Amino acid sequence: MKIAIILGSTRPGRFGAQVADWVMDQVAGRDDAEYELVDLADYDLDLLNELTVPGAAKRQYDNPKTRRWSETIDGFDGFVFVTPEYNHGVPAALKNAFDVLYPEWGHKGIALVSYGADCGVRAVEHWRTIVANAQMHVVRGQVSFSTMLEVEQGEDGDVFAPAERRAKELGNVLRQLTRLTAATASLRA
Ligand SMILES: Cc1cc2nc3c(=O)[nH]c(=O)nc-3n(C[C@H](O)[C@H](O)[C@H](O)COP(=O)(O)O)c2cc1C
Repeated sequence: MKIAIILGSTRPGRFGAQVADWVMDQVAGRDDAEYELVDLADYDLDLLNELTVPGAAKRQYDNPKTRRWSETIDGFDGFVFVTPEYNHGVPAALKNAFDVLYPEWGHKGIALVSYGADCGVRAVEHWRTIVANAQMHVVRGQVSFSTMLEVEQGEDGDVFAPAERRAKELGNVLRQLTRLTAATASLRA
């Protein structure tokens, strides 16, 4: 089973890189899945500019950037979205990355790791309804970090300092994700 940890912020100086790195550190010893970091910034996606809507395009995208993104997402069984919260909602870059595809997400597992001044919980609730439209299977658990409390001051700005209980929380979420992703494999076949 292959699970992508998607770093969903593309902003210069993004805090999300530290969160995604921490998630990757946590999965290092796990043998329940193959985990891989997918950095959205590496794909430089355009704002949805395909003539045919993704749900009808049968993966035949005109834009080579969309095709490359499609191939990447097709290669995974499940996902962890590492998402910030912008203006009480989901970040536009990750929402666009979600919107430019459709069948690639279908019937796959997903878990949400968020962060923000209020831990990004509103973004998580938005994601739950968004991913349902692509028939994804989202786990109940989530890990939500405070960018106000779970940081230390470093020379170059905020250094991510997650609360001790977060490792256990993530472990529970990943257990839910791998079990749900395995259980729904026949729907993807
Ligand atoms: C455009 C914008 C809107 C934001 N809106 C919210 C918000 O609604 N709620 C919140 O908790 N934090 C909000 N923040 C603060 C972010 O959670 C914080 O800056 C975080 O580091 C952003 O993630 P990033 O650095 O990976 O881009 C916002 C930040 C930006 C840039």
